[in-house]
Parts: sequence; C-alpha cells; structure tokens
Amino acid sequence: MDLVLHSERLTLTPFDDSDVDIAIENFTNPAVLRFAGGVMSEDAIRRQMPNWTRRGGNGCIGVWCVAKRDSGDKLGSGALLPMPIEESDTDYDLVIPGQLPDGDVEVGYYLKPSAWGKGYATEICRRLLQFAFEESPLTEIVATHDPGNLASRKVLLKSGFIDCSPRRNYGVDGLYYRITRVEWLNGR
Ligand SMILES: CC(C)(COP(=O)(O)OP(=O)(O)OC[C@H]1O[C@@H](n2cnc3c(N)ncnc32)[C@H](O)[C@@H]1OP(=O)(O)O)[C@@H](O)C(=O)NCCC(=O)NCCS
Repeated sequence: MDLVLHSERLTLTPFDDSDVDIAIENFTNPAVLRFAGGVMSEDAIRRQMPNWTRRGGNGCIGVWCVAKRDSGDKLGSGALLPMPIEESDTDYDLVIPGQLPDGDVEVGYYLKPSAWGKGYATEICRRLLQFAFEESPLTEIVATHDPGNLASRKVLLKSGFIDCSPRRNYGVDGLYYRITRVEWLNGR
C-alpha cells in the first residue's frame, strides 16, 4: 500500500518528526483551533508527536502532512483516526500497527489560514476517502465538527458525506456524518 498520496494540487505524506514545524505553526494558532479544542503549547505539541507519527491498520490509520505538490510548501495535515465516543480526544492506543480499530474511523483536516478558501480541505478529504475506499480495507468513514464550523460542514457535504446527526462522539450527542465505500463508489 502506497501511503504517499497525490491529488491534483497536493501531496499527502505520512506525518513524521520533521513535520513538527507545521504542527507548531498550526496548533499554536487560535484561528486554526477556534472550533477544534483550543491552542496547544509548543511543549504539548512536541509531546504529541509520537502519537501523530503512529500508524495503524498497516499504515492506513494515522496523520498525513499536506503540502503543495508544486512548491512543497506545507499547508497542514489530514487524518484518518479512531473517533472518540465518550472521551474528548483521540485514543492513540487504538492506533495499532497491524490492526484496524474496532470502532468508527473519522476523517480530519487542519490548514493554515493562508490556505483557506481555495478548496484544499475538500481536496484532502476526497483524497483520503479515495485512499480509504479504493486503496485500503476501510469500508466506512465518519466525521464530526463543532456546530459553528460551517466551512467544515461544507467540506464534508461536498465530499459526499451524509449528515446522520445526532450521534454520540467526543463525549456529546453531536453532529455526525458518514459515508460508506458503496456510497463513495456510486458517487464517483
Ligand atoms: C475548515 C477548513 C478545513 C476549511 O478549509 P478550506 O480549504 O477553506 O475548505 P474548502 O475551500 O475546501 O471548502 C470550504 C467551503 O466552506 C465555505 N465557507 C468558508 N467559511 C465559511 C463560513 N464561515 N460559513 C459558511 N461557509 C463557509 C467556503 O465558501 C467553501 O464552500 P464553497 O466551495 O461552496 O464556496 C479550514 O478553514 C481550517 O483548516 N480550519 C481550521 C481547522 C478546522 O477547523 N478543521 C476542521 C476540524 S472539524
């Protein structure tokens, strides 16, 4: 399975230690985390790097660094990770090398503000769904967002997700979207 993913304008590469730069740039920025948990300290980000570089399910579960295909400029990250149900954060112990998580796998994406409004998040989301359904054994992907994050809702709907809200995730009865492999293949 090739884990380096290309789309029209972007390259997604499995997150590694050298990607701490874009992690610090994005996750210390209040604008980026306005709807996603609030800013982190640089120390906390460095402590999370071993989690963000973990991969499960023979590589198909984890975080990817997103960069522009032409310049290599890093824009942010995209992820396929176990969705927490009662907890408020991802349980990285469920990211196990040779094993898919038992529960839902969610898609996520974070871009630096200068990259917003250009369709990049939709391109990331669609590429991760293509990977999940056409290149990996995953058969269903879910997603959620803060109710105020209307841009994220648009990204999910443009990518083919269906709003099945409400459903418990991140410790609340919240927004919940899903798409199956059959729906993805029918929508292509
Ligand atoms: C949310 C985020 C990923 C969107 O990225 P993006 O590359 O700008 O998204 P896209 O351009 O692919 O699509 C965004 C859509 O939302 C629309 N939009 C943007 N801001 C909006 C707002 N405040 N209200 C309603 N729609 C909005 C855009 O017009 C676009 O729709 P369109 O294609 O119909 O014009 C980006 O803003 C981001 O990284 N935010 C911080 C991290 C975050 O919140 N991640 C999601 C966690 S669930």
